[in-house]
Amino acid sequence: MKVLIIGAEGMLGHDLVDILSKENEISTTTIHTLDITDIEKTIDTVKDIKPEVVVHAAAFTDVNGSETNQDLAYKVNGIGTRNVAVACKESDSALVYICTDYVFDGEKGSSYYEYDQTNPLSVYGKTKLLGETYIRDILSKFYIVRTSWLYGYHGPNFITTMLQLAKTNDSLSVVNDQIGSPTYTVDLANAISQLIKKPSYGIYHITNSGECSWYEYAREIFEIAGVEIEVKPVTTKEYPQPAARPKYSVLENYNWRMEGFTPLRSYKEALREYMALL
Ligand SMILES: NC(=O)c1ccc[n+]([C@@H]2O[C@H](COP(=O)([O-])OP(=O)(O)OC[C@H]3O[C@@H](n4cnc5c(N)ncnc54)[C@H](OP(=O)(O)O)[C@@H]3O)[C@@H](O)[C@H]2O)c1
Repeated sequence: MKVLIIGAEGMLGHDLVDILSKENEISTTTIHTLDITDIEKTIDTVKDIKPEVVVHAAAFTDVNGSETNQDLAYKVNGIGTRNVAVACKESDSALVYICTDYVFDGEKGSSYYEYDQTNPLSVYGKTKLLGETYIRDILSKFYIVRTSWLYGYHGPNFITTMLQLAKTNDSLSVVNDQIGSPTYTVDLANAISQLIKKPSYGIYHITNSGECSWYEYAREIFEIAGVEIEVKPVTTKEYPQPAARPKYSVLENYNWRMEGFTPLRSYKEALREYMALL
């Protein structure tokens, strides 16, 4: 199958290229070859390649930075995604859009199903949700893939940050009242490679299994790494950040299971594999 990956230099984009190229004919764009905020260029690029599937992994992903740079987040995540959707429409390509657990407010108290009410708390979450809305308005052949707490080899992430901080600190304070599911970009890319084989379009929640707080996640990381450090649990109130985050944003991978796909392995198992190769 002919597949175009937009945002190929990002953390997830890199793994998508590696994994999707095993079974597909891949084309890629990066921010240097295609700025998705340019509608004409986006349409022309997709038209030239005429892929059966476009995987859109480009985004303005700085969650805190989006609060102070709202216009750029809106332009890339909202308008840019609209442009990709229009381009797919003109080329009759199906679109995979990567979205986030931050479209939810985290107040439900249990895991979110694909059909649950969205209510983003942050500018980032609002602009990513706007991307979803454009896609649903413009296209009929789409997979909206909401995922969470990504980490991979090709980008800075919570794990590398924790290990780096441990080099210069005897103790670290980590938030214990935000719960989610850390997800390995390799596992997500493998899931997307299975998903695009079937025209079972719609909204999917795809994450590794299991859940933890950032505090529990940090403890797990240090245990695997064999690093002895004191980790102190703190509340979000004690560690304020510019962007509000949902308290509990575990995503039920319901549609994924209903379509007959195997649930992704536990986040602990994926984390061990990732850290063994660091
Ligand atoms: N990271 C997470 O924890 C997480 C969680 C849930 C969902 N997601 C979603 O998953 C997807 C992939 O995330 P990621 O962590 O791999 O992000 P990433 O590493 O920041 O990659 C995003 C890529 O998009 C590029 N980009 C930014 N603006 C662009 C533009 N105007 N035109 C074209 N490309 C542009 C970036 O280039 P520069 O680096 O040069 O700016 C970067 O290469 C995103 O849609 C994100 O919203 C991420």
